[in-house]
Order: sequence, then C-alpha cells, then structure tokens
Amino acid sequence: MTSFFLSEALQQSQTRHLEDLIEWLKIPSVSSDTSKIGEVKQAAKWIADKLKDAGLSVETIPTQGHALVYAETPEVANGPTVLVYGHYDVQPAEPLELWTSGAFEPTIRDGNLYARGATDDKGQVLTHVQSVCEWLASGKPLPLQIKFLIEGEEEVGSANLERMLPELADKLACDCVVISDSSQYADGQPAITYGLRGIATYELKVQGPSKDLHSGSFGGAVMNPAIALCHLMSSMVDDQGRIQIRGFYDDVRELSAEERAAWKQLSPNDDEFARSAGAKELFGEKGYTADERRWARPTFDINGLTSGHQGEGVKTVLPAHASAKFSFRLVPDQDPQTITSALRSHLEANLPKGVTMDLKPDHGAPGMLADTESVYMDAAKAAIESAFGKPPVLIREGGSIPIVTKFQETLKCDCLLLGWGLSDDNAHSPDEKFRIDDYYRGIAASAVLWEAMGTLQPVDPFAEGAELPSKLW
Ligand code: BES
Ligand code: MN
Ligand code: MN
Repeated sequence: MTSFFLSEALQQSQTRHLEDLIEWLKIPSVSSDTSKIGEVKQAAKWIADKLKDAGLSVETIPTQGHALVYAETPEVANGPTVLVYGHYDVQPAEPLELWTSGAFEPTIRDGNLYARGATDDKGQVLTHVQSVCEWLASGKPLPLQIKFLIEGEEEVGSANLERMLPELADKLACDCVVISDSSQYADGQPAITYGLRGIATYELKVQGPSKDLHSGSFGGAVMNPAIALCHLMSSMVDDQGRIQIRGFYDDVRELSAEERAAWKQLSPNDDEFARSAGAKELFGEKGYTADERRWARPTFDINGLTSGHQGEGVKTVLPAHASAKFSFRLVPDQDPQTITSALRSHLEANLPKGVTMDLKPDHGAPGMLADTESVYMDAAKAAIESAFGKPPVLIREGGSIPIVTKFQETLKCDCLLLGWGLSDDNAHSPDEKFRIDDYYRGIAASAVLWEAMGTLQPVDPFAEGAELPSKLW
C-alpha cells in the first residue's frame, strides 16, 4: 500500500489499534454460556462506546437474547450504502488446559495475537471499525454511508436477529453487506469468499429402560440405547461420508465445470490441506477434491456423543439413555426444513425396537452464493490487492454464517465476504489466534475499500447509451 491518503495515519495508529483489540478480547463474551450474560453485555458496550467515541450515531437494540449493536455514519448523496456485519460473541474456550496462554488473556507470540475471538470475529470485525474511525478522524468526508450491525448471537445461530430482520429492514437498507468472518486461501494468498455452506444442527436422545441396569443381568435381553444410537448414527453415512437419508441429495446444486477447473488451479493436490488439518490421510466422497468436499458438498458430522459410564475404571452398565449432537453442512439449494423431515423419517424407520427417540432440531440456515460479477467485487479486489500486495482469488468456504442469506433475501443487497484470517487460526479451538499483520492489512484494505466503493457513482439509467451496472441502484 503506497499512495493511499490514510497510509501514514494507519501506520502511526497500529499500536493503538492493537491495544483496542486486546482490551475487547479480555471480555469473555461466550454467547452460549448463561453464566456470562454480564460479560456478553460488557463486550457489546465496549464496541458501542468505541463507535460512539468515533462520532457515529449508535443504538444498542435489545433482543430476546443478546443485544444488537447498530451504528451509522451520515447518509451520502449519490453514494452507496454499505452494511458491515460481524459478531462480538465468541465460542466457549474449553478445554482450557489446552491453551498455551489464557483464552481471555490476550498474548502476543511470533507475530500472532492469541485469544478466544481473535480471528472469530472480534479481530476481523474490528478492522472495519478502525478503518472508519481513521476516516472520520482524517477530516476527509467518507464517500459513502457506512452502517454497522454487530451482533451477539452468531455463534448460537442468530435466531433473534433473523426474527427481527423484517422490522429492521428499513434501518439496515444498503447496497452491499461487507463481512469479515472468514479466511484467506493460504498464507500469502488473500481471497474473497463467494459461497458458504448452510447448516442444520440437532440433538437426538434415545431412551431405553427407566434406569441404568446391570449389563450382566439384563444385557442381551433389553435393548441398549447407546447401541441403538450408534446404529442410528452409522445408518446416516456410508464409508465415504455419503449421506444415506432418502432424498437428501435431491436439491443439491452440482458444481460447475468452470468452478472445478478454477479450484484445481488454486491447489493442484490435497497435501497442504492434509498437513493443515494434522491428518495422516484424507477422507470423503469419491471423485471430489478436498476443497470441493468441504466447500460445495453436503456432509454429516457427529459433534458430541454421550452415554453411560465415562469415569475411571469399569462399570458394567446398560445405560438408560444415550444422546448425540450432530449437524449437516448444506449447500445451495438444500432447505434445512426439508432436510429435517427427511431425517426424521429416516430415524423413525431405522429406530431399533425397545427404545424411543426424541429429535430436537436446533438451528438451520441454507448455503449462500454471492454475485461474483458485481461492481463491489471489483472494488474489493482492488482494495485487497493494495493492502495485501497480491490480488485475491475467489473461493468458497465450508463454514456457515446463518444470517447472510436472510440479508440477501430481505435487504436485496450484494454481499462481500472478505476474510482476513488464516485456516490455521484455530477458530473454535484452543490457541485461537489472529496474525497481527493481517489485522493491520485488514484495516488498510477496509480503508481503501471505502474509497473504491465511494467512486461507484450512480448511473442515470435514462441517459443515452447508459449501462446500468449490475445490482447498483
Ligand atoms: N466465522 C464462522 C463462519 C465461518 C467458518 C466462515 C469458517 C468461513 C469459514 C462463524 O462464526 C461460525 O462459526 N459459524 C457457525 C454457525 C453455527 C454455530 C450456526 C458454524 O459454521 O459452525
Ligand atoms: Mn465468526
Ligand atoms: Mn465461529
């Protein structure tokens, strides 16, 4: 990044930007933990205050769960409006003993900042907040309006935001949503993500006898719910991970030949991916590369299994119940509710005799695809190249951001997923980190992005020879 007017100011503010992030990361805003409601509230207040101090008009919007923080800069005549979305909630940090330094004691090692939320998503969303603060402090007017929506329930499925989105639609109206909550393709190779997988999560409880039984006296004559659960779980997939539920693949959008060819160029083989996973051997559907499997194919995973004796030594017991938490990653055009009914029929048909089941769907969200040809995409490519020194590649990713398709549907806007993280940042794992230089480059890219987007002047559609850019105004 050389000639941009804010370059020097950004350079000089680096220490302060880092101190800000460290302060925010100290607040353990674990949204799923009801004992941390106060801390979640404190994290919302921290970012609301930061935006207020920079001069934005800020509102903390209560929900049935954790609050939304909304902020905006003034409207700009003839300029576009961008909505920056991110989340201030984080995943639980357990198991704590696997962290090299405390999960909520941000620590710098080898150019990285380690803490829960460093990359997912406090560090990433803060890049946009910092860049707007710098613009406002510079005295040069922002060439577009920027709105922020930073929520506290992304990691638990965004149900409250989804419910409130229709009533918030006017407030959130925008031409494009910008989200930094994903990753670069690899170290040294920035990326723009144009697709995410959807998700459907469940808890299944299998109930057997009314109490735990002696497995010698009763085993073989009473159905063991843990075995029943294992039967049910393994009935869902074959040895390549292909899902065995009738109708599951009916709506799956197949990959195009162009996409497959483009991804092949990114990574000619799967070795590097296997290394980053720490896996000796890879696994998955025949005929697909690792990127194809994790970005564009639906999958099934067991996230947790519980039953019977887990303590020290032997306890020969036939447990009374067993339960599993599991999830499907979905792709366009699969619908989570259709999947739930196909799943329910499958489980009912395969339920062993002698036990009962209770299936509870948790959250569901469809997969998303963004327009790769939009003018905003071009602006983002230029901004990323200027800050990261290399043009971004276009990728899809396998994770889910539940609210994005709802933004597309309700706000009828474009969507830019600009990930500054790295795939080995340990999101959701012990030793989560964010590379400090990527934090600074993210701030720089964001600052340039506002300038690049601001030059996207509206075209008079009635002027002679005028060509309306796709999806602009
Ligand atoms: N930032 C992630 C989403 C993500 C992960 C995007 C990897 C791209 C690559 C987000 O915070 C997340 O973890 N989402 C959850 C959603 C779930 C809890 C409903 C996910 O994907 O598991
Ligand atoms: Mn995230
Ligand atoms: Mn996450």
